[in-house]
Amino acid sequence: MKKYCLILAASLPLLLGAQPQQDEQKINDLLAKMTLEEKIGQMNQLSYGDKLDDGIKAGQIGSILNIVDPAEVNRLQAIAVKESRLGIPLIIGRDVIHGFKTIFPIPIGQAASFNPEVAEESAAVAAAEARSVGIHWTFAPMLDISRDPRWGRLAEGLGEDPYLASVLGSAMVRGFQGKNLSDSTSVAACIKHFAGYGAAEGGRDYNSTNIPPHLMRNVYLEPFKAAVEAGAATLMTSFNENDGIPSSGNTFLLKTVLRNEWKFDGFVVSDWGSVNGLVTHGFCADQKEAAMKATNAGLDMEMVSRAYIRHLPDLVKERKVSEQTIDEAVRNILRIKFRLGLFDNPYVDVSKPSVFYADKHLQAAQKAAGQSVVLLKNNGILPLGNMVKTVALVGPMADAPHDQLGTWIFDGDKTRTITPLAALQQQYGKQVKIIHEKGVAYSRDKSASGIPAAVKAAQSADVVVAVVGEEAILSGEAHSLAEWELKGAQKQLIAELKKVGKPLVVIVMAGRPLTIQQELNAADAMLYSFHPGTMGGSALADILFGKVVPSGKLPMTFPRENGQVPMYYNHNHTSHAFRGNEKMIDDIPLEAVQTSLGNSSYYLDAGASPLFPFGFGLSYSTFEYSDLRLDKATLKQGETVTATVTLKNTGKHEATEVAQLYVRDLTGSIARPVKELKGFRRVSLKAGESTEVSFALHTDDLAFYGIDMKKAAEPGAFKLWVGGDSNAKLEVEFDLQ
Ligand code: BGC
Repeated sequence: MKKYCLILAASLPLLLGAQPQQDEQKINDLLAKMTLEEKIGQMNQLSYGDKLDDGIKAGQIGSILNIVDPAEVNRLQAIAVKESRLGIPLIIGRDVIHGFKTIFPIPIGQAASFNPEVAEESAAVAAAEARSVGIHWTFAPMLDISRDPRWGRLAEGLGEDPYLASVLGSAMVRGFQGKNLSDSTSVAACIKHFAGYGAAEGGRDYNSTNIPPHLMRNVYLEPFKAAVEAGAATLMTSFNENDGIPSSGNTFLLKTVLRNEWKFDGFVVSDWGSVNGLVTHGFCADQKEAAMKATNAGLDMEMVSRAYIRHLPDLVKERKVSEQTIDEAVRNILRIKFRLGLFDNPYVDVSKPSVFYADKHLQAAQKAAGQSVVLLKNNGILPLGNMVKTVALVGPMADAPHDQLGTWIFDGDKTRTITPLAALQQQYGKQVKIIHEKGVAYSRDKSASGIPAAVKAAQSADVVVAVVGEEAILSGEAHSLAEWELKGAQKQLIAELKKVGKPLVVIVMAGRPLTIQQELNAADAMLYSFHPGTMGGSALADILFGKVVPSGKLPMTFPRENGQVPMYYNHNHTSHAFRGNEKMIDDIPLEAVQTSLGNSSYYLDAGASPLFPFGFGLSYSTFEYSDLRLDKATLKQGETVTATVTLKNTGKHEATEVAQLYVRDLTGSIARPVKELKGFRRVSLKAGESTEVSFALHTDDLAFYGIDMKKAAEPGAFKLWVGGDSNAKLEVEFDLQ
């Protein structure tokens, strides 16, 4: 029997230690030589395309974003290094979110892998490709917790759970930054958007958030804290205001939490124009006041809106901003420039061979895509067996090389995308005949004129594989939706295919959890791949034919009906929890008198349960959990309890299961979530094999911000579950003294 043991979050190592004393000395020496204007120049980031040469020469620009031509990077860097008075190099930034050239699954897809190795490797590949053209700094990972499928940017994040986002976000930071920021394959990470951006009201991007202090600390800030502990070099503020205070002017977040409590020593950048945003929020009367409030709040570098460069010189003269505050900001920026090695080696070596789409990058992208696919239903049709001779491949996403890549892929090349059509033809074309008919041209296309041809293809095939979903542009920044069922004529396509009566496999490629109840009912099997990136088609083809067994788990709850949102597994206990035997809408007699029915929290027409819970995902095999036990029933502060479960592969395929550990603190000084993920582990087992899986849970892992706003594990009784999703039933109890 193999043994697996997982050490939980509290013991995450501090990867990047304190910066050597020499750098601090060099920073101080440099600061002593800088004029106030040169200092403020370091705090100014502009976008490539603006006229930059003169500003760089004058020491008025510290950073440029959105430049990807290495020759141009070197030209501008030479102006900074050779022609500006002090020769301070530029730091070049870019949104390298889920790959630079080789595109990995969108982050919400990577989250479905529940695999920090996938997250780390995808970031490392992205870093190597990006740094090869002179990019030093990526604006990723996005650690915004989101519980709302309407919000298009959830595609860029790691789901609804703070623990999952902490583990995977920290892994991404490690992947981007490597062992040493100055390596030619590393970039500085930028954790964003600080804070609460994912809770935008109604899922409308940029909107207000109303996150109360306990929730902010216990859910929304947790992944940021973990990523700071993992050594994240920079952090970006968010566009939203929370309870009236916009993030770019939020002293509590930027000073009290980030600097004083978490001891963050990197630098903070605004989001695009978010210093000006302080004026549009009505938080400041004009740009000058915005520059003052942002700088004093602790925002070190301003992205593109030029409030700092215009107004800080006067604000310092007027003593509204102290020179000490400016020095602190510049010190933070220079520290990262030193760590990136820019003072020693500011240029990119253009003579090196290209690393774009290197074989090992493509292999990593394919592995990541394979692990990001979630099997939601299977009546036995998958994997496709030898009897299948003809496959009808239909749907708007079956051969959509651009859309399969997902949001935020400025630099990805769609001609390198392997779509399901290409993969099935190349990898399985000898063993099966593929008949391809789109049926619906693109995801929003309302025309049903192509459906008859798709139906005809289905009639002549043994199996129908319909690849539906969303185009890339329907998720991402500024792309929120009020209705998120399949768009265009796609629902009609599935309904017509169902009527043909052939086995129907539905693959959904999307940037969010779509509401798919109807299609799920129609399908014999359903795979959810999110937007799977460059190698997505190859990964899906291997899954269809059983070369790869699905192992992904949902990083977000999938609601049954749109009106159920927000819906997330780790909600607090209500006083009126749903029991499951309540009357539903059709049970209510005509002219019923007013009654409180089941007296519980649910919808008459949709109940209280989701379509799929957080953590859900099937396999071609089956797993059995048994004999959950603890090494102690009572725990003292500072101790660790070990939970062990026996996990058996009871099916016919070698497969990987993500074993998940959940905990509930029965009573707290504030109401506590019904369940919280506290550990997970990917476990691979041969058919019939079993193993013991152990999770070590330290009392720090049970800590939360209670009524007094101090983080502590409060004494009392706890329940603990281990299983294959957040509905895990195997349960034990323990006490914390
Ligand atoms: C986005 C950021 C991004 C920045 C720079 C903003 O609109 O909110 O996430 O990093 O642009 O492109």
